[in-house]
Amino acid sequence: MTRSAGAVAAEGPVAADAARARSVLTRCRGLVRPALAEAVGTLHPWIGRIAGYALGWSDAAGTPAPGASEGKGLRGALAVLGAEAVGAPGESAIPAAVAVELVHTFSLLHDDLMDGDTTRRGRTAAWRAFGTGPAVLAGDALHALAVRTLAEAGGPASPAAVRRLCATLTTLVAGQADDLLLEHRPWAGPEAVPPEEYRSVAERKTGVLLGCALALGAELAGAPDESVTALDRAGRHLGIAFQAVDDLLGIWGDPALTGKPVGGDLRRGKKTRPVLAALADGGPESRELAALLGRSAPMDDRTAARAATLAEAAGGLAATRDEAHRHLEAARTQLRAARLHPAPARDLEALIGSLFHRSR
Ligand code: IPE
Ligand code: MG
Ligand code: MG
Repeated sequence: MTRSAGAVAAEGPVAADAARARSVLTRCRGLVRPALAEAVGTLHPWIGRIAGYALGWSDAAGTPAPGASEGKGLRGALAVLGAEAVGAPGESAIPAAVAVELVHTFSLLHDDLMDGDTTRRGRTAAWRAFGTGPAVLAGDALHALAVRTLAEAGGPASPAAVRRLCATLTTLVAGQADDLLLEHRPWAGPEAVPPEEYRSVAERKTGVLLGCALALGAELAGAPDESVTALDRAGRHLGIAFQAVDDLLGIWGDPALTGKPVGGDLRRGKKTRPVLAALADGGPESRELAALLGRSAPMDDRTAARAATLAEAAGGLAATRDEAHRHLEAARTQLRAARLHPAPARDLEALIGSLFHRSR
């Protein structure tokens, strides 16, 4: 059974925060989008078409398809808010925002190939639409463009910002490598994946880029090290929480909203937090789930639905929701430590809260 994100990760009254988060994302997208389009416009035309498709701006023929499959622009918004939160104008963070959005797009392009996912945001994944070679190349181009954009930002903090972005990329690749290696680990026994190891993968494959996004705009603006570090830590916690919600949506989300196939992670035997938590429970539902996952035949729809029911009954949903909330709280603690300007800090708070009610 699929659920709304509210049922998956709900907490407290949210309507005002959700409206504020939407308007923050819209405002930041408006700030970042022209520079992002300009940067993508410098690419080889064929590669630029793939990039435009991956960004959700156009269809596979290159015809503009506004809005349909565009991402939230979360990372770009975090870069803008990070700068505003230390008292700098949002405009000063545009190169940082463009860089993190480009890195995000490149990582998804390659991730779908690595994960064998044929859909992304409700459309054919770029590698299926254009072919493996072109998709790899487009990812490479976006990666290089991200580093170049930041290097060309100028200003005294530009070298440190480039170093931060490159360190982030190295860690992200390490996280993705371990994510792939987890696929070959057994579900049970001494080689099974403990929660701490899973959390470390989530922090590296997802958290570091959110940390980088929050810190980068502030760093470019010349904020003190303590603030930049606190923003980076907040983003990492946010990323772990974000990945937990991603895992929940991957099992119990509505495919019409997530744009991903129903039960995709379960069918592929992906080691996700809810399933690992459910297996650690050891009760009857947990044992039945282990037996389903241990079968060699591919999971059909009914088996995937049964596995989702068992994972919930064995506490996988609740444990993952708790994990998301713990890291959300840790992110809030770090943000308080960063002594941010009140209005952008409230924008950030609204944005962070809204991530737990997202449905895609
Ligand atoms: C993606 O992780 C992480 C990166 C692209 C670096 P997942 O593979 O778990 O995310 P989705 O579910 O495909 O978006
Ligand atoms: Mg994936
Ligand atoms: Mg992946």
